[in-house]
Amino acid sequence: MKRADFPSLGFGVGLRSPHYKLVVDTHPKVDWFEVISENFMVEGGRALEVLQAVREDYPIAMHGVSMSIGSTDPLNRDYLRQIRDLARRFEPAWISDHLCWTGVGGRNLHDLLPLPYTEEAIRHVVARIRQVQETLERPILIENVSSYMAFADSTMTEWGFISAIAEEADCGILLDINNIFVSAFNHRFNANHYIDAVPAERVVQYHLAGHSDHGTHLLDTHDHPIREEVWALYERAARRFGEVAAIVEWDDNIPEFSVLADASERARGIFKKVTVENHGRSPEATAKHPLSADHRS
Ligand SMILES: [Fe+2]
Repeated sequence: MKRADFPSLGFGVGLRSPHYKLVVDTHPKVDWFEVISENFMVEGGRALEVLQAVREDYPIAMHGVSMSIGSTDPLNRDYLRQIRDLARRFEPAWISDHLCWTGVGGRNLHDLLPLPYTEEAIRHVVARIRQVQETLERPILIENVSSYMAFADSTMTEWGFISAIAEEADCGILLDINNIFVSAFNHRFNANHYIDAVPAERVVQYHLAGHSDHGTHLLDTHDHPIREEVWALYERAARRFGEVAAIVEWDDNIPEFSVLADASERARGIFKKVTVENHGRSPEATAKHPLSADHRS
């Protein structure tokens, strides 16, 4: 798969419950919404009504938090079927989850835990992504997580690990720019090397979010504005990858919708700026519609 196989969604926001009413009632000017799949894996009720209303006005992508693609537990077939059924109903542009494990031995730890970066882990995850893609009847995107510990067994960089998995499983990458920044600080690697190394044609979406600074380490809390250093990293990505769909994620101390929408517009502005500056020099994976993200404006 390559990015051009997917629709070009533009610049959006992660849909969160404090904004449901405003989004349904006022149809704010953003290109698209990313929704958390698990919030809508219910029989009926308000959440599904909201999603139905949102979907009538906007493209969406489905983002999951509990696939546990890296675990050694068997894949949860029931969970995957529910995701597939939700996707059949709401027709998201794509489905994503995290390159991590969230539990083992049947116990869910409710956290996005990192993997050892080894050839064995690559083979394990690739086989599972292929099974997931078969069940969901489409390629998925895998997202890099932030991390606070590393395995002594790792034999490669995180970007080498995610790149190898995406290539071998033939899936896409959801590049969380803030997670790269957080992990780079925590593990003392150069975030630019990450941006420069991942396979350009497989980067289908970005996450932009805020983190909190604890001095010795950064925490991926999604409760602050996006830091300037993360914007700078995003600009580097935009310069290399061209047009990639982006959303702003905010999960705690959620501000007014306009704050998220403004950040999404800032991402668009940076993309446009680097596209003009790139004139005559194509980004590595040329977008189908380099300046077309204004379809709602
Ligand atoms: Fe993310």
